[in-house]
Amino acid sequence: MPTLTVEGFAPVEVPSGKRLVLAIEQDAKVDVLHACGGNARCTTCRVEFIEGEPSRMTAAEQQVLTAKGLSGVRLSCQMLCDHDMTVRAISRLEGSGRPDPGRTPEPFITPPPVWL
Ligand code: FES
Repeated sequence: MPTLTVEGFAPVEVPSGKRLVLAIEQDAKVDVLHACGGNARCTTCRVEFIEGEPSRMTAAEQQVLTAKGLSGVRLSCQMLCDHDMTVRAISRLEGSGRPDPGRTPEPFITPPPVWL
């Protein structure tokens, strides 16, 4: 089982292949946002990688990051936690002014991933 560390929180073991956004929320217990429900539309699930950044990316992630001019961040809804990762949660419910983090993402990557 891979170890997920969210900076400032206790490391946790995650079922291999779990969607990262869900692992952050459900396993690490960090209030990451996912305003679009994990569909690569909102970018509120973005994290900064400290270690273990995946080399592959979905076409949907690349498209929305480019469209919003974002760099140095990755979308946690567009990847699986299948190896040890250390991330910084930079987009959290706390302090966001939002009423909730957004609809719970599906357990699989949506839209169906096209890997680059
Ligand atoms: S882009 Fe909206 S939850 Fe990931």
